[in-house]
Amino acid sequence: MRQALRFVVGLVLGLALLTWITTILVQKTTRRWAVNDVHLRAQLVVNGARQVLADHWRKDQSNELRNTLTEIARDDRIMAVAACNADTSLLASTKDFPSKFSCAELSDHVRPFTDAPKDMWSAWDQPDSLPGGSVHVSAIPVFDGDRPLGFLVLVHDLSYAEHREARTQQFVLLAFGFLAVAASAVTLLAGRLSWRSWSDELRRLARGEAPKQAEFRPILRDVRELVDRLMVERETEMEGGAWTPQRLKLTLKRHLQGERVVIVANREPYIHETQRDGSIKVLHPASGLVTALEPVVQACSGVWIAHGGGSADRETADKNGRIRVPPGEESYLVRRVWLSKEEEQGYYYGFSNEGLWPLCHIAHARPVFRSEDWRYYQAVNQKFANSVCEEVDSADPIILVQDYHFALAPRLIRERLPRATVIMFWHIPWPNSERLGICPWRKELLEGMLGSSIIGFHTQSHCNNFIDSVDRFLEARIDREQNAVVQGGRSTLVRPYPISLEWPVHWLKTAPSPEACRAGVLAELGLKPDALLGVGVDRLDYTKGIEERFLAVESLLDRHPEFRGRFTFVQLAAPSRTLIERYHQLNESVEQLATRINERFAKDTYRPIILLRSHHEPPTVFRYYRAADVCYVSSLHDGMNLVAKEFVAARDDEHGVLVLSQFTGAARELTEALIVNPYDIEEASSALATALNMSPDEQRERLRSMRVFLAEFNVYRWAGRMLVDAARLRRRERLTGRLAVHLVESSSS
Ligand code: G6P
Repeated sequence: MRQALRFVVGLVLGLALLTWITTILVQKTTRRWAVNDVHLRAQLVVNGARQVLADHWRKDQSNELRNTLTEIARDDRIMAVAACNADTSLLASTKDFPSKFSCAELSDHVRPFTDAPKDMWSAWDQPDSLPGGSVHVSAIPVFDGDRPLGFLVLVHDLSYAEHREARTQQFVLLAFGFLAVAASAVTLLAGRLSWRSWSDELRRLARGEAPKQAEFRPILRDVRELVDRLMVERETEMEGGAWTPQRLKLTLKRHLQGERVVIVANREPYIHETQRDGSIKVLHPASGLVTALEPVVQACSGVWIAHGGGSADRETADKNGRIRVPPGEESYLVRRVWLSKEEEQGYYYGFSNEGLWPLCHIAHARPVFRSEDWRYYQAVNQKFANSVCEEVDSADPIILVQDYHFALAPRLIRERLPRATVIMFWHIPWPNSERLGICPWRKELLEGMLGSSIIGFHTQSHCNNFIDSVDRFLEARIDREQNAVVQGGRSTLVRPYPISLEWPVHWLKTAPSPEACRAGVLAELGLKPDALLGVGVDRLDYTKGIEERFLAVESLLDRHPEFRGRFTFVQLAAPSRTLIERYHQLNESVEQLATRINERFAKDTYRPIILLRSHHEPPTVFRYYRAADVCYVSSLHDGMNLVAKEFVAARDDEHGVLVLSQFTGAARELTEALIVNPYDIEEASSALATALNMSPDEQRERLRSMRVFLAEFNVYRWAGRMLVDAARLRRRERLTGRLAVHLVESSSS
């Protein structure tokens, strides 16, 4: 509005100047017209009386001449007339001829034309003024044949021209005044209207709504960028500022000039399954990888490429296998890759889960490597790499390859997209080089992984194992200072990035209070309100130490009879990889063990172990976490284990105790848990007893400290750190690329 006012003031000043100039021009033009007018009239009058004048002049009849002059002066524009001889003496004049214009006075102006030959004579005109107003004086020669007799001096009244000028000036002033007012009003009105529409649009932008006018879109983008940047800068400035989805998004945009990441993971975040009644249900798979990555891809609005394994996956996706998720929010894209039964058998069940999974975990399962499985593993890795190339939107995309299902994909992607930033994260442990030596295709696996820009593991010891394996099996330079492997001039960084959870966990937003969860769960399980409850949440996998866990419960009841009849351990066990014989055996052995222990301590309705073998959706899992007094994570070997972190996240009431296996990556971070060796059944049972006897204050102190840790070391930080490292690497590569070009140029010149 201030701008509009400034414009109006400028406009008025400009118009005033224009009015002034116009007035002067109008005045001059009007005067010129008037002078021309009187001059013409004078000529006409004199021409009409010329004969009479010449007669009187020649006969020197001054009285008759005066009468003729008086006749001429009857014209209302002629005030006075005088007849001057050629020698400039006055011959006759009307009565009130002003002395100012005497013949002698005018002779200087008149002589040049009275002396000149007749055909060159012309009138002399001069504006002048008298006390009564402005006049115009003209001198017109009078001839007798060719002989000049003298000249007539006519004094014309120009006051009528002055009136005309004044009226024209008034008109001009009025016209310009009107123009100034109208233009100012229009400007102010337009300013007001556009201000209102601007402020409406800005209000709409501030509310996060889409602008109505297209020209606001770039502004919206700029405003959002600015807000994002300010928020991130504020967060970063704050000591220990937490990583948030926004900060992650901006990191991606600022450091990697992109907003979209492509994630490749075997397991999809949403599985569509057809139910018995024909309806379709969406399931969240039991997978730590999915739990961690979902919030990251949501923040980065990317694409998740995964095996479409659900029975209703095909019918819910489009013809290219694409579907927008999460259901109802649709913030990112899942691209489903279809696998034949044989491919799934060879690549997933065979090579990945009968070969690599037991190879990487120290859990006493024998790895099985079949060359047929290997061929499927290669083919499916190629299939996923092709899908990646179809989904990327630039020549240097950011691709996050997940886990042991895709050891070959990074190299295959690099072959097609040499400028891509490929980050591979290995979610399970990496074995020592001796153990890796079991795998007939260890070299190919290592070569495949080294197509990445960065390879991440949960712990430094897994990084060390990987570097030792490269050292042992490949021809490559190890840069121990940088923790990198250099092959063919390309570096792959090998770094620990301990994975974590979103913070706060979104499932808690809708979770009932811990008291309500406890009451509900105890009632569901048929337990007394004062029962002590332990919980375990796992896929039914032999690496999770479920048998050892049950044995620890048995030992607890053995060694601490006070807990018999009071303590119940509920195990949520999601069936997993059931087509594999080892998993089948596990199912049976776990069942048998639970039955044996239950029979041993059974009293009335009391059973110490409740085994719930089915898939549980996250809201149920979180209800159990919030209901329990103790959570026992007894993995025999685990990359990280997010169940431990989920339990801590779920306990915003700061009640409950975590008993955690020392063989998980989580044990290095959640040091306030009761850390145990799950193989040491007595030690584990003592830890369970300690947990059940722990004072509320100690529980609070331990949980509080772990929750502070998780809030800071959340999954956005995990992804953010990898992306920042990738960006640094990318900058370095660009720089060395430029230098290389420069060196080539200078050596050739
Ligand atoms: C582990 C693996 C994941 C996998 C999950 C569930 O956490 O690291 O890649 O998704 O187990 O296993 P599943 O075979 O059911 O995907």
